[in-house]
Amino acid sequence: MRDADPQQAALRIRAGRSPLPAVSLKADVPLLDRYREFLPITDATPLITLGEGNTPLVRSTAIEHELRAGALYFKVEGANPTGSFKDRGMVLTIAKALEQGSRAVICASTGNTSASAAAYAARAGITAIVIVPDGYVALGKLAQAMIYGARVLMIRGNFDDALALVRTLGEENPVTVVNSVNPYRLEGQKSGAFEICDALGDAPDYLAIPVGNAGNISAYWAGFVQYRAAGNATQTPRMLGFQAAGAAPIVRNEVVPNPETVATAIRIGNPASWHLAVRARDESGGRIDSVGDDEILDAYQMLAQREGLFVEPASAAAVAGVRKLVRTRQLDLAGRTLVCVLTGNGLKDPDRAVMLSGDAARVDPDIVAIERALGWV
Ligand code: F0G
Repeated sequence: MRDADPQQAALRIRAGRSPLPAVSLKADVPLLDRYREFLPITDATPLITLGEGNTPLVRSTAIEHELRAGALYFKVEGANPTGSFKDRGMVLTIAKALEQGSRAVICASTGNTSASAAAYAARAGITAIVIVPDGYVALGKLAQAMIYGARVLMIRGNFDDALALVRTLGEENPVTVVNSVNPYRLEGQKSGAFEICDALGDAPDYLAIPVGNAGNISAYWAGFVQYRAAGNATQTPRMLGFQAAGAAPIVRNEVVPNPETVATAIRIGNPASWHLAVRARDESGGRIDSVGDDEILDAYQMLAQREGLFVEPASAAAVAGVRKLVRTRQLDLAGRTLVCVLTGNGLKDPDRAVMLSGDAARVDPDIVAIERALGWV
């Protein structure tokens, strides 16, 4: 590791004692421009942006000690414009759709992809159609797709059913499918790996990430491999992917017809990028494992209460998974650097947070009542 601590690295850079990172981290450079040489951008690609990418890499203050890790960082993807990592791939996908003259896009989604597609389509002035499982999309995500002006259709079925429908609709109609079966999605999502290497000065030893439709783990792996080949990193990380126990087709090595988990974002039984994820796991020397809903919710609360990071339940799956592997002595992080990708913002799923936290106390608006409620008198 050349610079394990990004704050130290930044100080050295400012002091002029270290070379600049491989690319400019300036926030005002759009993601597509910043990583242009690593992405399929042509002179005809419109460099649209909502300010995606360049998300914080935050060092852990609590969980790092529990895991006895050399260093633990969180890549806070909830800081993206629509609150999830999806914006990295969507900005490129919509740009390429525009370049190719498309006027409408369609996707299936557990919520975040639809929010992102709706936002970038609105930005680009084209139509977005989103198909989601009725009753299994967090309220914030649904609100996003609606207010951005997408045509929202809810089906009696799950994500896998929705994706199958979208693929057929895309073949038969003049509409661009913007799920991760569209290769530009994964191309854009590689940028998360680039940013981690730029911030740390090299790739970490491990990367932990939740797995749903299995696109992100595949994209990160491709990004790390590409960055090392370009000489911007000396190593690639071992990839640690985590599915929810009730929606773990890759772990079980079979399609799960009726996936169930509180982490609705990763409630998927037949992931589109299944084989790419298996390849990422095997080529990196990593693993894909599963975690129970109770472990996910435990990590979800811990991230909020001990790190000050409010993420959505699916995002906590990676942290839950690493805790499980360390606790059961299947993983030793001593002297190792680990990055956990926190894929989405907790505000997307406020119901879950309120449900877990219980009711706030109701008190009269006077000092004594408040002091009494606080146990001070
Ligand atoms: N975390 C969050 C917050 C997600 O929304 C998703 C996927 C994942 C993790 C898993 O990433 O699918 O690339 O393996 N959400 C998709 C959606 C399925 O429709 O928003 P993946």
